[in-house]
Amino acid sequence: MHHFKYKNSRLYCESVSIEKIAKEVGTPLYLYSYKTLISHYRKIKEAFKSLNPIICFSMKSNSNLSVCRALLKAGAGLDIVSGGELFKAKRIGANPKKIVYASVGKTAVEISNALKAGILFFNVESIPELVLIDKLCAHMGKRATIAIRVNPGVKAKTHRYITTGTRNDKFGIDEDTTLRIFNENAKFKYIDIIGIHIHIGSQITQAYPFLKAIRKITPLIRAIRKAGNRIDYLNIGGGLGIIYNNEKPQTASDFARAVTPLLSKLNVKLILEPGRFISGNSGILVTRVLHVKKSLSKSFMIVDAGMNDIMRPSLYGAFHKILPVIRGSSKTEKRKFDVVGPICESGDFLAKDRELAIAREGDFLAVMSAGAYGFSMSSNYNARPRVAEVMVINGKYYIIRKRESCQDLIRGEVIPKVLLR
Ligand SMILES: Cc1ncc(COP(=O)(O)O)c(C=O)c1O
Repeated sequence: MHHFKYKNSRLYCESVSIEKIAKEVGTPLYLYSYKTLISHYRKIKEAFKSLNPIICFSMKSNSNLSVCRALLKAGAGLDIVSGGELFKAKRIGANPKKIVYASVGKTAVEISNALKAGILFFNVESIPELVLIDKLCAHMGKRATIAIRVNPGVKAKTHRYITTGTRNDKFGIDEDTTLRIFNENAKFKYIDIIGIHIHIGSQITQAYPFLKAIRKITPLIRAIRKAGNRIDYLNIGGGLGIIYNNEKPQTASDFARAVTPLLSKLNVKLILEPGRFISGNSGILVTRVLHVKKSLSKSFMIVDAGMNDIMRPSLYGAFHKILPVIRGSSKTEKRKFDVVGPICESGDFLAKDRELAIAREGDFLAVMSAGAYGFSMSSNYNARPRVAEVMVINGKYYIIRKRESCQDLIRGEVIPKVLLR
């Protein structure tokens, strides 16, 4: 359920006309519904009520300060993957005791800053990383709590680029090595290894890959404890799939119902790291038709948003519904279009061979389900300023990120004198 709906053929975000926002703010723009965002967070919270987990919103899906701040206010923690995300988390006053930090490649500076902040967990993905954290703790007079990210060797049944739990993926550590690490915790003087982390992939629509992964780590948890070690936390990652087109993903409560019987036996504090489930359908990208063009073999709608603004179609062949902001009558002629951006790449498309009502120059289109991995993956490619972000809260819209200017494009660039002579 989201709050982007037609009223009298005009698309609204909650109670605000999207056409009005597009005209006043300009396009392209990302538009978020606060109500949708919070309701998706609450759906997970409610579904897992009996286990009372720490729900750490995955910032990589959307790290806009206002989006994250809205979720913090609702009680969420944060899942971070970089020093930059830590910086943003601190900027919005996140409780460090609700921050977990995963990444296969954390630098010494990033680790030191996370130690200074006093985060809840480092989700550690290799032995060299453990050694480095221990060394930095010794140097800084700190202790760190560690969860080992286990790679359970499970296929998540999703796009290969967002599968993260098979043996060929770069993520995590195998079960035998994990057991050895727990048994040798004493070798590391400044870290407490007291958690297990798994994250098997993203946009997973069914429970069984999660069940498989939890079943795979259950004997590991038992073996770790049997050897006299502590495990207090289990983080089962994110990955819950959403509806982009006609998927029928499990609901949060279906998911909770499926995994709770296994989890409740483990006697651990549960951590969840949902990203897409919370932010995905809370946001759309609004774009404007620049030209409609017919080639010898195809029809193109050329719009003002490109692959630099929304990368998912080009990167994964991902599907996003495209809706007119003002809907014509049912008699409006339809045709198959490639919806493409202005970028100099044939891979710059938002949709291929999509049957759409014929649009005219200046019409606004809504690229749906763009709240996750939308703006957060955008770039300045082709020297295009990144777009504005807007949020509707209680019947009013707020610009939560200004559109970049050409000055922003050259911020930080320096031309050596030798080139100016
Ligand atoms: C470690 C980790 N946790 C959580 C997530 C969030 O995944 P999703 O947005 O599918 O919920 C990701 C995404 O790749 C991840 O790598």
